[in-house]
Amino acid sequence: MIKVVVCGASGRMGQTIGKMVKESSDLELVGGIDLKPSSFFGVDIVESQKLEHFLTSKKPDVLIDFTIAHAAVENVKTAAKNNVAIVVGTTGFTSEQRADMAKAIEGHVPAVISSNFSVGVNIFWQLVRDAAKLLKEYDIEVVEGHHRNKKDAPSGTAKTILQILDEEVGTRKKLYGREGMLERGNEIGVHVIRGGDIVGDHKVMFSKNFETIELSHRAYDRSVFASGALRATRWVIGKKPGLYGMNDVLGLKRQ
Ligand SMILES: NC(=O)c1ccc[n+]([C@@H]2O[C@H](COP(=O)([O-])OP(=O)(O)OC[C@H]3O[C@@H](n4cnc5c(N)ncnc54)[C@H](O)[C@@H]3O)[C@@H](O)[C@H]2O)c1
Repeated sequence: MIKVVVCGASGRMGQTIGKMVKESSDLELVGGIDLKPSSFFGVDIVESQKLEHFLTSKKPDVLIDFTIAHAAVENVKTAAKNNVAIVVGTTGFTSEQRADMAKAIEGHVPAVISSNFSVGVNIFWQLVRDAAKLLKEYDIEVVEGHHRNKKDAPSGTAKTILQILDEEVGTRKKLYGREGMLERGNEIGVHVIRGGDIVGDHKVMFSKNFETIELSHRAYDRSVFASGALRATRWVIGKKPGLYGMNDVLGLKRQ
């Protein structure tokens, strides 16, 4: 049995993952971590200040983090220090925070970090890369939509899309929304929608005179992210210390 602790256990993703771990036959839910003590699926949720004590007493094999960027960085450092493998789905990191996590991980523990654990989105990213290679002359727009409680914008998934586009068409200026009298240049327009309970929508549009190619992905349920995170959890056990992506887990090309 692979012992799992979930950070952000009281949140939307934490609850979905906790339920899925509990229902699986090869994973054991040993507890959760969140800001306030509570319980979920028959185990305790412990306050975040007690993470280190929790790791040394319960000895989980994998820490799964779906919290908020500044908390995830600290949780990663604590897990790495205590030799616990890591799966991070949290988004909204600055480049400094990414570097901090990488420093804690490299040479110490294996970790999978992905802005989107859905198998479909990982294939969608690859399709965006393949399309961008062929459509370098086209105007490009990126649109994403999420539920009203999502804090970071644009989404981590949209940022990964922008990174892929930069790599394939060359770095272009990003324009976050348009207002007023503007001439379209070589920029990539980025548009963010927040409302209701949208689970996660992403669209990339490549337009030229008289035609538009659209690639889009729509998640209907958080379980697609949770099941991908659990796939990464099973995969990460026994890997060499270092930073991996969901492309490694799925055996896909580089994202
Ligand atoms: N990678 C993916 O596939 C994927 C999919 C969905 C969401 N996300 C990301 O996962 C994160 C969480 O999303 P959510 O919708 O579950 O958010 P949420 O706000 O519902 O849950 C976050 C939880 O983290 C808790 N938390 C905050 N600080 C903490 C700390 N120091 N220690 C432990 N817990 C702490 C909060 O109390 C809350 O319960 C966001 O960054 C979101 O963008 C990623």
